[in-house]
Amino acid sequence: MNLKIAVLPGDGIGPEVIQQAIRCLEAIEESFDHTFSYKEAAVGALGIETVNDPLPQKTLELCKNSDAILFGAIGNRQFDHNLDTRLRPEHGLLKLRKELDLFANIRPVKAYKPLYDRSPLKKHIVENTDFIIYRELTGGIYFGEKKTWDQGRKASDVCEYSEKEISRIAHLAFKSARNRRKKLTLIDKANVLESSLLWRRVVSAIGESYPEVNLEFCYVDHAAMRLVLQPNSFDVILTDNMFGDILSDEASVISGTIGLLPSASIGAKNVLFEPIHGSFSTAKGKNIANPIAAILSAAMLLEHFSLFEEAMVIREGVDRALTKGIVTPDVNNKTKYGTSHVGDFIADFIVDHHDEVTMNDENIGLGRSTII
Ligand code: IPM
Ligand code: MG
Repeated sequence: MNLKIAVLPGDGIGPEVIQQAIRCLEAIEESFDHTFSYKEAAVGALGIETVNDPLPQKTLELCKNSDAILFGAIGNRQFDHNLDTRLRPEHGLLKLRKELDLFANIRPVKAYKPLYDRSPLKKHIVENTDFIIYRELTGGIYFGEKKTWDQGRKASDVCEYSEKEISRIAHLAFKSARNRRKKLTLIDKANVLESSLLWRRVVSAIGESYPEVNLEFCYVDHAAMRLVLQPNSFDVILTDNMFGDILSDEASVISGTIGLLPSASIGAKNVLFEPIHGSFSTAKGKNIANPIAAILSAAMLLEHFSLFEEAMVIREGVDRALTKGIVTPDVNNKTKYGTSHVGDFIADFIVDHHDEVTMNDENIGLGRSTII
């Protein structure tokens, strides 16, 4: 398969984790005879510094004309106090989502067995946690009317949703639940918010077309509690933009480190894949950032194009790295491995996955020869 991939490494640790994700994609090209092309463009702080725009026009054009976008991270403290929010790095990402209509943000959350003890939650609570959050990404309070008045002493953000915005993501979430454990939880605040009542009405009606899926409703405050008390009681979560933002960060700690969690943002024409974590600027260039979230985002990219076997090999490589302890310091603070070692290990695993018997994991982890 030929794929044109737009690469937006972004700020902080973005470039170094994306470099490892690309290494793994190149290993997939080599092993499975695919041809992917990678074109890089600026976004976030780099865009502001170079052309005074966190989403330069050229970058947007490149993304529009690509089959998929691989995105690193965004954010730089230096610009946090820019009074003009359009000149903050985050605005580049928000604008990209809106311009490309990336309405569904999919965030899988999984507890990995070798890391059960890393979780801040007790082992019996995290065990078998495996759910997916479907977060609406281009509507709600993020994009409703924003106002300040009374000389800046009052401000408001409107949370607005339409039936259409809700139903297009609801269908994706129901389809996903149908292929999994057949449970969908709509998280809202329907005891207070009119927009949540609309979500309930629309999602309930759609639910009738998916009789095999068990639909339940959960208020967001209760859901926040349930995520840490019984995370394995969720299968597919469907929620709006703001609640999804907050709950996905909360959920990200379950697995023990946010450095493991990938995401996909799906639109009608374009798709974007990015790790959930931020730019972690203090770690930039130190070879300590966890590349696994970026690498798993690459696996989600492959799955999107139905390259399931390829994605599975990446996932196996990740499992192997975690089991062997070839991990970055966020997973084990005594580790001797860094970002590039973890990337090397997984990329080498991909290339050599047919030669199971001859692999020498110790050497791979040390960045030396892969075959004895
Ligand atoms: C996320 C981030 C973004 C969001 C920020 C960087 C604008 O927190 O992708 O979850 O709020 O959506
Ligand atoms: Mg967030």
